[in-house]
Amino acid sequence: MSAYDPIARLYDRWSSSVIEDISFYVEEALAAGDGPVVELGVGTGRIAIPTAMAGVHLIGVDSSPEMLAVCLERAREAGVADRLDLRLGDLRRPPVDERVALLTCPFRAYLHLATDEERLEALRAARDLLRPDGRLVFDVFAPSREDIEETHGRWIEREPRIDERADWDLAARTLTLSVRGAGGESTMVLWWLEPERWHSLLAEAGFEVAACYGWFDRRPYAGGEDTVWIAHVRK
Ligand SMILES: C[S@@+](CC[C@H](N)C(=O)[O-])C[C@H]1O[C@@H](n2cnc3c(N)ncnc32)[C@H](O)[C@@H]1O
Repeated sequence: MSAYDPIARLYDRWSSSVIEDISFYVEEALAAGDGPVVELGVGTGRIAIPTAMAGVHLIGVDSSPEMLAVCLERAREAGVADRLDLRLGDLRRPPVDERVALLTCPFRAYLHLATDEERLEALRAARDLLRPDGRLVFDVFAPSREDIEETHGRWIEREPRIDERADWDLAARTLTLSVRGAGGESTMVLWWLEPERWHSLLAEAGFEVAACYGWFDRRPYAGGEDTVWIAHVRK
């Protein structure tokens, strides 16, 4: 079972303040031109539905049947279900035969991969799905010491009646994230890496980094927590 299944009905309220990345990913999808784009870890469609509403056809892959069920309901409500092709599967082995111009993995979904072996498997699978001129776009983070000190081991009300707790392990570079609220609770683990390491893994998987931004407004990365990556298949 996916750690996201029990919180699928809570997820949209839990992440309701995260809006800064939506227009960025919609712009990337619009710029990709013809054909569907692929979103890995599509979740409840927080980004996929606005993307479909902008006229883009999108294949969404996720390992949580419950998140996909919410996504389909939301897509029907928004009148864009015909532009979304939702597929249950693992982002390391996406159930996608199409070759596409854009593959995205928004909101840190790659941080659910625990080892370099898994990360390379996922990145190589992404490379194999892309057309020769295609792009992989994703975002990840590495926490600051202040963030760790502020949040470690405490339940914090993240949204009304939705509590979140972060347990950081600096040695193992893991964040054990728990969430609870009316309608569900779960605990999941995220493994973070420094940007230099993402750069090396992308190179090892056959990508060239076209840009590493520090935020979704495309400012260059200057040492913050977040990184937003645009990578091309190496020729
Ligand atoms: C933080 S959510 C992001 C959802 C959506 N992209 C968004 O921006 O709101 C991460 C998503 O990745 C999915 N996920 C985690 N590990 C996965 C894997 N190995 N294969 C496919 N999906 C995965 C989860 O089920 C979840 O829906």
